[in-house]
Amino acid sequence: MSDNKKEIIKNYSNDDITVVWKPNTCIHAKKCWKELIQVFDPRNKPWVNMEGATTDRIKKQVEACPSGALSYISKGGSKEKAHTETKIEVLENGPLLVYGTLHVTNSNGVEEKKNKTTAFCRCGASQNKPYCDGAHMQMEFKG
Ligand code: SF4
Ligand code: FES
Repeated sequence: MSDNKKEIIKNYSNDDITVVWKPNTCIHAKKCWKELIQVFDPRNKPWVNMEGATTDRIKKQVEACPSGALSYISKGGSKEKAHTETKIEVLENGPLLVYGTLHVTNSNGVEEKKNKTTAFCRCGASQNKPYCDGAHMQMEFKG
């Protein structure tokens, strides 16, 4: 079952921050590559080059990730902004994005706390429901 799916977490650091990447959460919106290819380049290994831009620029791009797959930790601790308002956005041909701190109770009763941005599957094909895992791309979901 999807809950057994192991969370993969990768870290990329410079002197100021560590960028945390959770591939299973990525919805492949390609926002990060399109906007900052000097740092986020999927053709490279590792695909995140922490030397490619200033720390502030990298932070800005990480904050723009629509799925929450990218986050960062500063030397002084997590600097993710707390969301006081809940905002919902329907991504064209993709998931439902909910911005804010959420307490999600899954269908098996397991509760999870979600921060920042959470992408919920709208296409029905995700192997990690209720969350989007990028499967909408393969099935060419329209809606
Ligand atoms: S969801 Fe985030 S990490 Fe994945 S491609 Fe888009 S911006 Fe990059
Ligand atoms: S909406 Fe992304 S997997 Fe269903």
